[in-house]
Amino acid sequence: MSQAAPTNEKPQPTYLSDYQPPAFRVTHTELKFDLDPSNTRVTALLHLERHPDSDPGRPLTLNGEKLSLQRIAIDGQELQEGEYRLDEKSLTIDNPPERMRLETEVVVDPASNTALQGLYVSNGMFCTQCEAEGFRRITFYPDRPDVMATFATTVIGDKTQLPVLLSNGNPVERGELPNGKHFVTWEDPHPKPSYLFALVAGQLEKVEDHFTTMSGREVLLQIWVEPQNLDKTEHAMRSLKASMKWDEETYGREYDLDRFMIVAVDDFNMGAMENKGLNIFNSAAVLTHPQTATDAAFQRVEGVVAHEYFHNWSGNRVTCRDWFQLSLKEGFTVFRDQGFTADMNSAPVKRIQDVSFLRTAQFAEDSGPTAHPVRPDHYIEITNFYTLTIYEKGSEIVRMLRHLLGWETFRKGSDLYFERFDGQAVTIEDFVGCMAEVSGLDLDQFMRWYSQAGTPEIDASGDYDYAKGEYHLTLRQRTPATADQPDKQPLHLPVKVGLVGTKSGEDLRLTLEDPEDQANLDKGGVLHLRQEEQTFIFTGLDEAPIPSLLRGFSAPAKLRFPYGRDELAFLLMHDVDGFNRWDAGQRLAMLALDDLIAAHRNGVEKVMDSRVVDAFRSLLTTPTEDKAVLAEMLTLPSEAYIAEQQPVVDVDAIHAARSFVKQSLAYALRDEFLAIYQANQIEAAYAPSAGQIAQRSLKNVALSYLMSIEDEQGVALAQQQFEADHNMTDVRAALTLLVHSSRGDIADPALKAFGEKWAHDPLVMDQWFSLQVTRPQSDALDRVKYLMAHPAFSLKNPNRVRALIGAFVGQNRVNFHRLDGEGYKLLADVVIELNKLNPEIAARIITPLTRWQRFDEQRQALMKAELERIRAEDLSPNVYEVVEKALAG
Ligand code: TRP
Ligand code: ZN
Repeated sequence: MSQAAPTNEKPQPTYLSDYQPPAFRVTHTELKFDLDPSNTRVTALLHLERHPDSDPGRPLTLNGEKLSLQRIAIDGQELQEGEYRLDEKSLTIDNPPERMRLETEVVVDPASNTALQGLYVSNGMFCTQCEAEGFRRITFYPDRPDVMATFATTVIGDKTQLPVLLSNGNPVERGELPNGKHFVTWEDPHPKPSYLFALVAGQLEKVEDHFTTMSGREVLLQIWVEPQNLDKTEHAMRSLKASMKWDEETYGREYDLDRFMIVAVDDFNMGAMENKGLNIFNSAAVLTHPQTATDAAFQRVEGVVAHEYFHNWSGNRVTCRDWFQLSLKEGFTVFRDQGFTADMNSAPVKRIQDVSFLRTAQFAEDSGPTAHPVRPDHYIEITNFYTLTIYEKGSEIVRMLRHLLGWETFRKGSDLYFERFDGQAVTIEDFVGCMAEVSGLDLDQFMRWYSQAGTPEIDASGDYDYAKGEYHLTLRQRTPATADQPDKQPLHLPVKVGLVGTKSGEDLRLTLEDPEDQANLDKGGVLHLRQEEQTFIFTGLDEAPIPSLLRGFSAPAKLRFPYGRDELAFLLMHDVDGFNRWDAGQRLAMLALDDLIAAHRNGVEKVMDSRVVDAFRSLLTTPTEDKAVLAEMLTLPSEAYIAEQQPVVDVDAIHAARSFVKQSLAYALRDEFLAIYQANQIEAAYAPSAGQIAQRSLKNVALSYLMSIEDEQGVALAQQQFEADHNMTDVRAALTLLVHSSRGDIADPALKAFGEKWAHDPLVMDQWFSLQVTRPQSDALDRVKYLMAHPAFSLKNPNRVRALIGAFVGQNRVNFHRLDGEGYKLLADVVIELNKLNPEIAARIITPLTRWQRFDEQRQALMKAELERIRAEDLSPNVYEVVEKALAG
């Protein structure tokens, strides 16, 4: 038997409205893997029975791609050709028995699997990635999340090459086989969809620990890594135990197997994967060491470990009916991991960082050619829909439910959801339905958040009537058209407000004239904005207020309010909401930056706004408890965020204006920055504690100002910090400042020394790549090309691609958008190569090119020409879908 003949058609979309329950269900799945790098044999025995909701006549169709079928049998009877149909994507049996055991044997080629979906080899280690549709590259199967089965998996491999053989659940049998082979059989008692299947085999070593659950069960915890990484697992293990405890205390969720395993893999498309009992991680999302990982990396590990662990309930026990419901598990799980990180560290800083990310990257996605609802209604390639909209906006929607219901009612809704749907594959309606049921709220209008793409804009205005002691707050909402949807309906938004007294600087008591508004406020602490325009009347106010709106960023919207600069400076000092205090500073800086961008474009001399200088001086000299928040407050809006605010992006003017503000602040406040720098040195050994991280970020922000003017003092401090070699956070911060400066005489030897010292550690080399190619100097593009030939670089490894190419195209705006088009050409060349090697990564890395509409005509033409050049290639469905949308947009 042979491989199926290729079909030659354009990729077709799948529609949510076409959903049908499966024709068959699988009650139990038995798998046997005989591992070999280019010739792995997979035997599958599926216990199948007609699905109760299916018409009796429907054929049995199994997904299967890139499989070489060797044998097929039903209830022990071999099928002959003609008794089944095979094409490039599926195997069909037309008149199947209502209940049967179907046995197939296929051969796959893991060593040449550069797409990293299904079974592949990474550094000699076998591993799997099955979400979303990778299992069909392992065996013929109804590869859809609403088919849930128990699994028994036997893994066979060479004893010396593959001493460790892992799969989901519990090991039940192991033994020796002829020809130097051995086997282990694993059983997973929890029915699961195929996307949660995992297998790992290789020369791995483990670190072990234990966790006792709230009902007193002992769970074995293991982290499996390559031997050289055994000293980099401590933080991940600590994070895992903290996550298990937090999910018990916060959501009442207990772990349900006797063991929980994490494996670190070098070649991985995303951050990590929540396979039942056997999470597989990108090594960048699990390994840390003070000398090799920055504070940001430590925090990422903590967040990703938590995220994958939390999926055990939000995703695995209760899973998605179909992939359109992806945000059901991802939005909720991101919301849960954000809550965990907020509790472990500084809550306002976590919110500031998440919102910064949302407002730059997700808002840009939501207004661009690939904009889509949190629940899309069609897709060509599902892996293209693991987006910021599904994850981050999806989390914001869950957060809005929390605001509307209040935490306690929200928690009741969560309990009901997990209880009612345990072991089932469900929809977003099922989740929101639980929230409506426990709260009595009508959430029909709220459901539009899932079906309507685009970021809503709120225009707010306010009036204080001194005689009546009233404040009238009017909110108008509008969602601009997106490429996929011209007409938009009003949304149901929770708006958290405070009124800050202009005399007292304190929050005034909120009393609403309308009893329904007041009742809503009492319930969740928020105003409910449902109409296109609504006025809220606050009474009993004996001083004029300044409104603090959308506190904690209570809804993912763009808020406009005609704040004066003095009002913003006032809120920056007085608002009790940490997030809005930060946001007031960002708004104040944005007003100054707007003026400077205009000045740059008009060739007028730039003048610094003294109110920004005064605000920064107060920040630097007022003692504060929360140094992490202060570090955020001292950080100017990023070039990407500033670009989001411009009608036509002028990358050079933005860069010039931002650098001017930074340098002006450094000249005016040099002593204050120096004092902060010196006061926050840490003598103690490195710890990834909230306190130390806060101090380091504050100190390194100060250093970035001092270095921005490149005087002898700043350069000397950066050089000293680099040479002190205390921890990677400080070393990388100092090295980045040196490399991004014009001081090649100092930067080059440091860069060289660093590169040689860490040549053996790919995750450190990734940082070495990124920090060089993000330098603003005009040689950055040449460096990218030069480094692509470096022995530590490979287009086959997604982390390398992200560190070198991704960093350049995403973070080096002045150089990527060079007017000679060389930046665009470089990206297109890479996309064309990656389209053949790893379509999933190709379709992601292309993103900056799809945003051509945001730029001037000359750049638009250059970017479109590169998109056309890509379109002329023989494209994967992944790249095809993105390029078609980008060029249609
Ligand atoms: N479910 C994974 C998560 O925790 C996402 C993921 C990991 C993924 N690897 C993937 C999605 C590969 C698609 C393809 O968010
Ligand atoms: Zn996830």
